[in-house]
Amino acid sequence: SDKKIGIDKIGLYLPPYYIDMVDLAHERGEDADKYTLGLGQEKMAVPPESQDTVSMAANAALQILDDDDREKIDLVVLATETGIDKSKAGSVYIHHLTGIQPFARSIEMKQACYSGTAGLQLAVSHIANHPGSRALVIASDIAKYGLNSGGEPTQGAGAVAMLIKEDPRIAIVEPDSVSMSRDIMDFWKPNYLEYPEVKGQYSSMQYLDVLSKVWAEYQKRHDVTVEDFESFIFHIPFTKLGEKGLRKVMKGAAEDKKAELKKHYEHTRLLSKNAGNIYTGSLFLGFLSSLVNDPHLSAGDRIGAFSYGSGAVGEFFSMELVEDYRERIDLEAIQSLFDNRHKLSIQEYEDSYNKELPVDGSEYETDYSGDNSAIIVAGIKDHERQYRVR
Ligand code: CAA
Repeated sequence: SDKKIGIDKIGLYLPPYYIDMVDLAHERGEDADKYTLGLGQEKMAVPPESQDTVSMAANAALQILDDDDREKIDLVVLATETGIDKSKAGSVYIHHLTGIQPFARSIEMKQACYSGTAGLQLAVSHIANHPGSRALVIASDIAKYGLNSGGEPTQGAGAVAMLIKEDPRIAIVEPDSVSMSRDIMDFWKPNYLEYPEVKGQYSSMQYLDVLSKVWAEYQKRHDVTVEDFESFIFHIPFTKLGEKGLRKVMKGAAEDKKAELKKHYEHTRLLSKNAGNIYTGSLFLGFLSSLVNDPHLSAGDRIGAFSYGSGAVGEFFSMELVEDYRERIDLEAIQSLFDNRHKLSIQEYEDSYNKELPVDGSEYETDYSGDNSAIIVAGIKDHERQYRVR
């Protein structure tokens, strides 16, 4: 069909705290350059106990929804690998907290960091089949590997919300995706574990190998080359890995094209560099970063996207920027998320690390004094999370 469907609005939520990677390196006895240059990270978002995956997602959605959207949305997808319940979808709470009309379908999707893309693709198909409707897709996660763990410098937390509709005013999602599934154990989280099992080097190797394979297959199926793209976005667990991914994609390109693509990537990585890994939302944080920061992009440009979720599923697809896309971004809201964060010392970060909602079923009230977010978790009562809308 010649219907144009894609991203009409995009919003971000970040928790109100962060730590500086140089502080963390000093405290862990590492060279600061390892984190800033080796991993490509500068600041890492830290969630307070008053934010969970659901509240962050709802906060991101509130950034973009208006009453017309609330009337027309009939699909709500939460993409996450850090859900709060093994049965009930987090999107049912979000549907309620954001005031969407009742006749909507709400589901949660899981496949490590990949499911944001699965949610986006599902939403695009849904709109194709339900003309005039709108879909809300939110990718939200809290990435934790444990204090002093190998993965500690690649943590983060946050949510990206996207409104999907026909004739989108940010980007058209092209029906060209190529996916790949590969049953491997590079990163996974058995139900009984608090933190994931992760084979760090192996996971990075798999990420890059799956990227090479889906990119090669994509080029073959669609008869395109790197020259057909203006810029590339990646799942960014740490921004150095996206840089390595770009090198794979650029292999064989002319030197001037390579230089151009590297310049674009600097804009793509900027938000992730200052937020860390937000898992499912990470690819879209890179996209948002390009929209906000990249002065060399314009309407009609084609952007290649690589999504990866350990376990593993990878997907390559493309998007086309639409006229005046930049006017659709609330630049001020995004800037203020970063500007209004409070820096924690490493001691404060460690003290807060285990101050989470209890997992033993006991009742709990959170301390949300430092959290001005519109939606917060007030606690747990009778095994029910208590969300407050301010
Ligand atoms: N100055 C400059 N660079 C330095 C340095 C210094 N003083 N010291 C080290 N470096 C460089 C290293 O050379 C290395 O870069 P290259 O790989 O380009 O050579 C980089 O810093 C990191 O060093 P190490 O590889 O030694 O780091 P590590 O083994 O301690 O940890 C990690 C890195 C494996 C990524 C670890 O943080 C981790 O396990 N993270 C979680 C897993 C992860 O994010 N995997 C990504 C792929 S899986 C995925 O994408 C899904 C997902 O979101 C989890």
